[in-house]
Amino acid sequence: MRRSRLPVLVLLAASLAGCNTWYNDVPSPDNLLAQVPWFDHMIASRAVWPYSRLGIPRNTPPGTVPVTGGEVDWSAEWAVANTATADAQANPTDGIPTARGDTLYHTFCGVCHGVAGAGDGPVGPKVAAPSLLTPRAVGYTDGYLYSIVRYGRGIMGKYGDKITRQDDRWQVVNYVRQLQAGAAQPAGGQ
Ligand code: HEC
Repeated sequence: MRRSRLPVLVLLAASLAGCNTWYNDVPSPDNLLAQVPWFDHMIASRAVWPYSRLGIPRNTPPGTVPVTGGEVDWSAEWAVANTATADAQANPTDGIPTARGDTLYHTFCGVCHGVAGAGDGPVGPKVAAPSLLTPRAVGYTDGYLYSIVRYGRGIMGKYGDKITRQDDRWQVVNYVRQLQAGAAQPAGGQ
């Protein structure tokens, strides 16, 4: 009888001791850092810079090509209004606008170009943002619209660093096309 109770008592004592430590002796969560000895000196440990060395295997092996990313950069010729490479960009989507394009347009473009693209967003008149519904804007190639999103033009800043995914930029292009198509409907039409 005595021997069989001993482990139970030991367990009980141990668990009570545990409760005591964590629920009574730890005054506040702010002090928990000091309670975990291997944790509180991590902050003073040496920083590791895994990408500081060249020659670790993130380089593309010779003779291979990346299948994602690696978009060509035509910012230099875009900056001098040479639109050849821009215009040559083929829209890789089916051209049908998605909710994603809608969201991105209203996040990044509508403030100047307006909810429907008429150039009447709250900031539009202050920076003379043009309407995107003019024959000129309709006449731009998809690649041109993609490039203006990626690199900006004149006083319109670039959005390539905010809309970083290529497919997202194409969705913005598709959404602008939808606004243009909607504006082309005869007045009073559905
Ligand atoms: C801060 C205001 C502002 C924002 C935000 C903005 N634009 Fe612009 N946008 C302009 C201005 C100003 C111009 C005229 C630039 C110039 O004179 O070259 C312009 C020009 C354009 C043009 C060319 C219109 C034409 O008739 O030549 C297109 C297309 C365009 N923007 C699309 C967009 C898209 C798509 C977005 C969102 C990714 C966007 N803009 C965000 C201010 C803005």
